[in-house]
Amino acid sequence: MTPQDLTAPHAVPQRPYSTTPARLYAAAHGGPEGRDAYPPDLELVDGLARLGLDPALIAHHSRDFHRRAVTHTAHALGISQFVDIGCGLPAQSRPNTHTTVAAAHASWRVLHVDNDPVVRAHADALLRTSTPGATTVLEADLRDPDIILDRAREVLDFGEPVAVMLLGVLHYLTDADRPHNIVRHLVDALPPGSCLLLSHTTRDYAPRAIQRADELLARAGIQAQARSREAVTRFFDGLTPDGPGLVPVHQWRPDDPASAALPASRIHTYGGIGTKPSPALPATRRSGGSGPGAGGRGGSV
Ligand SMILES: C[S@@+](CC[C@H](N)C(=O)[O-])C[C@H]1O[C@@H](n2cnc3c(N)ncnc32)[C@H](O)[C@@H]1O
Repeated sequence: MTPQDLTAPHAVPQRPYSTTPARLYAAAHGGPEGRDAYPPDLELVDGLARLGLDPALIAHHSRDFHRRAVTHTAHALGISQFVDIGCGLPAQSRPNTHTTVAAAHASWRVLHVDNDPVVRAHADALLRTSTPGATTVLEADLRDPDIILDRAREVLDFGEPVAVMLLGVLHYLTDADRPHNIVRHLVDALPPGSCLLLSHTTRDYAPRAIQRADELLARAGIQAQARSREAVTRFFDGLTPDGPGLVPVHQWRPDDPASAALPASRIHTYGGIGTKPSPALPATRRSGGSGPGAGGRGGSV
């Protein structure tokens, strides 16, 4: 390119950014996180609000579930190795996965995974300041689970339980991506005692508004598919529900009764944790078994 080209009117596009799931989430949060957002992200948040949704409230409670779920897994379940798939832009005003895990364990490992190169760049920069070697960032797509598993086996000890986090990410896979097979493939690779942390947008409380939200996202170039409770529950096939099972995220082990009293129709997001049984425990996926999970369905997550 010659110097003359650089001064041509078309050299600086008027709208250099399209939206992405990571920046949309940052825009919905607002506050310090909102510094990562650009006009197309903010316009999309406004569009979702015009459908009667409350993106800021949904983002707040989704992220708060993240904190409580990781804290519970690290402290109560004693797991010190995490794979955070769809980790998103590092939060500025809330704990990120590795800070929560590090508060619970002297020795820990977190593999952060996202398919957005901007997330990888931000995460790389942030993690330079955390414990060297304890955090790893991988730019990879959930639809290629073997790439994620290969890296996880390199940086984690698969002789010990591993927590796989799929928080706010499966919504970005449509049924054509066969998300249930992907989750099953990931879980099958984990050692016994491992667990799955999952949150997912649902259309159960406002089917038309959520359908229109997914259409709005599609017009902005983001494929998305909210799912019913039944479809989200199937992600936990073969796992034992931990605690309350699959519930609206703000009602999962709440530490603030006022927040928990919000109607689920304002949050539109389910969350839960399932653990992989040890061989010594009843296998809920055993075919022909007589336990509560017989026939391929785990417990009532
Ligand atoms: C709503 S944010 C969730 C962030 C974080 N997990 C949380 O709960 O706070 C969704 C993230 O998933 C990532 N994502 C979307 N589709 C993905 C895919 N197919 N593979 C990997 N990451 C993906 C996006 O780039 C984005 O960072």
